Amino acid sequence: MFDFETILLEQRGAVAVLTINRPDKLNALNKQVHLESVAALDKLRHDETVRVLVITGSGNKAFIAGADIAEFAEQTPIGQRNFFYERTLFNTIDSFPKPVIAMINGFCLGGGNELALACDIRIASETAKFSQPEINLGIMPGGGGTQRLARLIGEGRAMELCLTGDMIDAETALRFGLVNYVFPPDELEGGTMKIAEKIAEKAPIALQLTKEAVKFAAKSNLDEGLRREVDLFALCFSTEDKEEGVRAFLEKRKPNFKGR
Ligand code: COA
Repeated sequence: MFDFETILLEQRGAVAVLTINRPDKLNALNKQVHLESVAALDKLRHDETVRVLVITGSGNKAFIAGADIAEFAEQTPIGQRNFFYERTLFNTIDSFPKPVIAMINGFCLGGGNELALACDIRIASETAKFSQPEINLGIMPGGGGTQRLARLIGEGRAMELCLTGDMIDAETALRFGLVNYVFPPDELEGGTMKIAEKIAEKAPIALQLTKEAVKFAAKSNLDEGLRREVDLFALCFSTEDKEEGVRAFLEKRKPNFKGR
């Protein structure tokens, strides 16, 4: 679709697949990967033919083995702070107006796990391994690893992962609720695409508003959240897709949603 150096972007029907493509460095996230991925998401955001995004890593060993440690030497405290305060890849995924699925095909460490946490659904291979290993480098997570992880799997488990830096396997990640599904390696892609395609058939505006409402649950108290939900629910009633969905049900046929 577009030319990038550190990522691959392809489209399969209504599903776009973004692959972090530095297999010799276990797809470590350097600045170029961040910037190219944000640029890719900016293009996909406006592409009406793309309804779901899948993010994965190249090769069969790693999803993403974390931030590129080789770049740490040249980074200053204020530079790091400014970079992460700007529109990071993690926050761009979090607020992306279409569902994003992390297809986790191996090591999912540090910034890799933070990227997966920013996605809406995580699907892993049986061979995947997860950790927040920053503590082993004398630092701590800086891209949501303490915040999104604690909200997803609870404070106790997040605390243990961040304090020990220990790696957990895919079965443990499933038990913790860190991932939604675990597939054998050769079924990961098929299983993920099936879920992506199922979501891609739904009404795009309703998907966007649903994602916004669910994400808001972590940011609000229940009263504010319920009010936001009903406002977004009401907004769905202004769409052509709501008319189509209701009409299709009454006519006993599959709806054809157009994103309007
Ligand atoms: N940043 C930069 N380079 C990385 C990297 C990272 N986060 N993770 C792996 N690499 C590079 C290695 O330096 C090596 O490069 P080289 O071949 O030029 O020496 C290559 O990727 C392969 O990694 P290697 O360590 O040889 O593979 P392994 O199978 O022995 O170990 C890991 C795999 C994931 C256990 C190990 O690479 C590792 O611990 N990586 C760092 C993970 C981490 O701390 N991430 C959080 C950063 S905040």
